[in-house]
Amino acid sequence: MQWVSLGQGPDMATANIFIVYAASATTVTLSPRSGGQGQPSYNPAANVTLLEGSGIVDGRMVAEVRCENCWGSWPAAPSGSSSAVVEGGEGGVGAATGAATGAGGGSGGFVMDPNGNETAWFWAYQLGAPLDSADVGAELGMHDVKGEMVWDLREAGFEVGETGLEEGFNPFA
Ligand code: HEM
Ligand SMILES: *[C@@H]1O[C@H](CO)[C@@H](O)[C@H](O)[C@H]1NC(C)=O
Ligand SMILES: *[C@@H]1O[C@H](CO)[C@@H](O)[C@H](O)[C@H]1NC(C)=O
Repeated sequence: MQWVSLGQGPDMATANIFIVYAASATTVTLSPRSGGQGQPSYNPAANVTLLEGSGIVDGRMVAEVRCENCWGSWPAAPSGSSSAVVEGGEGGVGAATGAATGAGGGSGGFVMDPNGNETAWFWAYQLGAPLDSADVGAELGMHDVKGEMVWDLREAGFEVGETGLEEGFNPFA
């Protein structure tokens, strides 16, 4: 695999796209992107972090991701104004609503219900040699294979204590 990717949302135009590729023989780059025409562009408004446990493990690229603003489309990449700031909501619901109204946007974005039983996702990958790039804006070739799926997010929850999530907490570990 040269890159692997998960799209959160119903279509390329509005989705939050998570692309992963090798940064080195043991580490991966997580590149959050948006955009519907051809190669998606790096979106600095995505508030995502790679958790401990991510990397190249037993020959597989593994990305365990924390996202702070994934209940809706990430804001369109800022273009001179500071309007891309996302307000954190209680419990995260609606923390980021569709704001793809900037240049090139206009689709309105998606909003995802954390308890949604039929949420829309898709995926794609490209085969090839490792990119060995830590650049979140690395130039990527088109997918060899792609597909779609529907997930029941009620199956994906986990308990969170009174104090909320500790920094670096990894439910996948
Ligand atoms: C990296 C550069 C990329 C290029 C140049 C590219 C290009 C294209 C093109 C030309 C199409 C329309 C033709 C077709 O259906 O095969 C397409 C469709 C599609 N691509 Fe990509 N793509 C890229 C990345 C991605 C990524 C990262 C994902 C998913 C996570 C993705 C998911 C899809 C899906 C689901 C479709 C079919 C539905 C649609 O057209 O909205 N693509 N892509
Ligand atoms: C990312 O989310 C955290 C936690 O909600 C917040 O403290 C931080 O300011 C956010 N960063 C950006 C760039 O929005
Ligand atoms: C999701 O919920 C709707 C409305 O309650 C129901 O009609 C549908 O069958 C459910 N789908 C799944 C996969 O559980």
